[in-house]
Amino acid sequence: MSFYKHHVFFCLNRRDAPEACCACHGADQMRAYAKDRIKALKLSGEGKVRVNQAGCLDRCELGPCIVVYPEGVWYTYVDKTDIDEIIDEHLVNGRVVERLRI
Ligand code: FES
Repeated sequence: MSFYKHHVFFCLNRRDAPEACCACHGADQMRAYAKDRIKALKLSGEGKVRVNQAGCLDRCELGPCIVVYPEGVWYTYVDKTDIDEIIDEHLVNGRVVERLRI
């Protein structure tokens, strides 16, 4: 069994324009928002959810990118509504959010 039920990696890589990069799409703020909300919902910790930052995950053109393990499900997002949906549906209810999947 995994130490975390869900391990979520946010790419925070930054590059100069015109290169695609996740940080250019507010990845840092969205990661901070996700961490705060997961903590507020008491979902963080051993056997539950961990959110970490990552360097480039090499799917830049499809980003900003998140990957959730152990499932290996990739998502993109635009705003807090998308992050909320990933938390509520995937991390809480175990249902993949197909509309955000990449
Ligand atoms: S910059 Fe995020 S996947 Fe490459």
